[in-house]
Amino acid sequence: MLLLLCAAAVQPVRAEEGMWLPMLISQRIDDMQAHGFRLTAEDVYSINQASLKDAVVLFGSGCTGEVVSRDGLLFTNHHCGFSQIQQHSSVEHDYLKDGFWAMSRSEELPNKGLTVSFLERMDEVTAAVLKGYEPTMSEAQRDSVVKLNSDAIVKSIVNPDKGIRARVEALYYANQYFLFVYKVYRDVRLVGAPPSSIGKFGGDTDNWMWPRHTGDFSIFRIYADKDNEPADYSEDNVPFRPKRFFEISRAGVKEGDFTFVYGCPGSTKEYVTSDEVRYVGEVSDPEKIALRTLRLDIQKKYMSQDPAVRIQYASKNAGVANAWKKWQGEAKGIARLGTVAAKQEYERRFAAWAAGTRYEGLLDRLSGLYARREPYYRAYEYYTETARTVELLQLANNVRTALAAKRPVGELAEAFFKDYYQPIDEEIFVAVLDAFDRQMDPAFKPAYFKEKLAAYGSLAAWRDELYAKSLFTDRARVLALTEADLPQVEADPAWELYNAFYQWYRSELQPVIEEVSREIRLAYRDYMRAQMEFEPDKAFYPDANLTLRVAYGHVAGYSPADAIYYTPVSTLKGIIEKDNPDIYDYNIPQVLRDVYAQGGHEAQPVCFLATNHTSGGNSGSPVINADGRLVGINFDRVWEGTMSDIVFDPDYCRNISLDIRYLLFVIEHVGHAGWLFDEMVFAD
Ligand code: ARG
Ligand code: GLU
Repeated sequence: MLLLLCAAAVQPVRAEEGMWLPMLISQRIDDMQAHGFRLTAEDVYSINQASLKDAVVLFGSGCTGEVVSRDGLLFTNHHCGFSQIQQHSSVEHDYLKDGFWAMSRSEELPNKGLTVSFLERMDEVTAAVLKGYEPTMSEAQRDSVVKLNSDAIVKSIVNPDKGIRARVEALYYANQYFLFVYKVYRDVRLVGAPPSSIGKFGGDTDNWMWPRHTGDFSIFRIYADKDNEPADYSEDNVPFRPKRFFEISRAGVKEGDFTFVYGCPGSTKEYVTSDEVRYVGEVSDPEKIALRTLRLDIQKKYMSQDPAVRIQYASKNAGVANAWKKWQGEAKGIARLGTVAAKQEYERRFAAWAAGTRYEGLLDRLSGLYARREPYYRAYEYYTETARTVELLQLANNVRTALAAKRPVGELAEAFFKDYYQPIDEEIFVAVLDAFDRQMDPAFKPAYFKEKLAAYGSLAAWRDELYAKSLFTDRARVLALTEADLPQVEADPAWELYNAFYQWYRSELQPVIEEVSREIRLAYRDYMRAQMEFEPDKAFYPDANLTLRVAYGHVAGYSPADAIYYTPVSTLKGIIEKDNPDIYDYNIPQVLRDVYAQGGHEAQPVCFLATNHTSGGNSGSPVINADGRLVGINFDRVWEGTMSDIVFDPDYCRNISLDIRYLLFVIEHVGHAGWLFDEMVFAD
């Protein structure tokens, strides 16, 4: 009883939903301050002075990162730096397995192709983008006006010498246009990464889950030329001097504390109709989950029998499992919230309001378009989750593409066979194509597929012959292929099958999908605007599109099911509880066991939950406290809340962050790289 009272007392008012544009943060700042934030709108985003936005970057092309020292030191997630860590790894120096720690700046490792992008500023440019547009124009004419004007705006700003890039983005379904100006630095070096047994601790078993104990971070440094400008890698480059960097708080977080995630969420669809939500929650997600379950079960069966196969398929299995788990939470969340019925109810009220306005009939039109597209779209999704997943067919296509472009196939083939286990592929071939055959209407199957299957009598018979006859099962033969073998490659049954599916998709699905999708997008332009007119008092944040956003909330646990309550902070004690040398995902490095055994570290915080509205792309985002100091690094959501890309539920939607104090702990006790602390600024 006492406990309950305490919990109620710390439960603050709810902020939660929303990914706000930093430029317009003055519209939210009162609410942020009411939730505990102690800084101003100008502190968050300013073009006149250094502000927090100047310490946040788009890391690569799909993650976020934050600058944490005046010498350009940068934090992001381990899974965001994964490919760089992997590229530097070899049998002698397995940085993925053992971790990597530069012990001085001269040991930091350059990464070809890696960039970080700072947002210099953003501006609303709707009027300029639509200049010359007349409502009497066709959509094609509108498109060309938009393109012409956008190109001119971008052209007037870009400056490759200074690393200045610009993009005009259509927000609110092209009702508004915003210019984003970035400064892109391209000498970004690896400074540190924990062993994967820390950075990926829990692997796919714990992915999208709480309780979580993953030390999901990696450390980089941005370099610039002597004038602090972007430059290609050079030994003469010097550490970049940021306009602003995050001070680090070691004070930690507790339930109820204000948190603010500043980063680049990739894609959401919060304003779609009930038809789209029904399709996602009741058709697409469940069907894709079932198809992936087939593949995962087959992979798992062979992986558990043979450690070599487990390594071969670890990354593939992780990739398949990541979305598979996310979709389960999404479908369940949509069903639990009754989102389809809630949207239908909203649409009834909207339609009544729209009667007699120019929006009359809009929802019926959208519904008709969805109905027209659905069978084609469903077939497309089946295709991508079945025929497209057979590795033999992928290899055939990749080899054929390389040969047709006169590129050698050696590297590609070596990489393929290194991680190929044919029994898995053969079993998946039968399983997924059988599902395709049973679930697709005959009108939505390639003629080639129907004929061949009829001729073979069964997928098992087809498989036996395909894998016996195709040259693509034979590493030596594939390695020996040259341009001159193109006719032989194109006559191979694996490429034939790949190509039959692909041509079917191109001729029978894609044209309809593209045409109807274009009309759907246009209808949403009206529907988005109409929703804003329908609810003039509601604050509408634009759907995510990898542009910089602010999400604020507070540290909070949740109840995933009856009689269970998850508290929001995990500790090192939990890592030790999970530790098991026999289970790959839970086999921690010995050094962590040793440090723990010395005592005193039981309560070392590792991860925490909060109510910030985040999505894929927010990985690596700074999690900031009420004073604007870094308390964590965002890296995941809980699977029960992944419907937040469509509908946000404050009871279930939680982002998962690494507690910054665990990062410091790992640098000290595992990396012994305490020299990095000298440049960090701690302010508790
Ligand atoms: N679920 C997180 C995301 O969507 C982390 C994925 C990487 N980790 C993993 N165990 N597969 O990106
Ligand atoms: N792990 C995700 C990423 O890489 C973040 C999780 C999510 O919120 O989707 O962006």
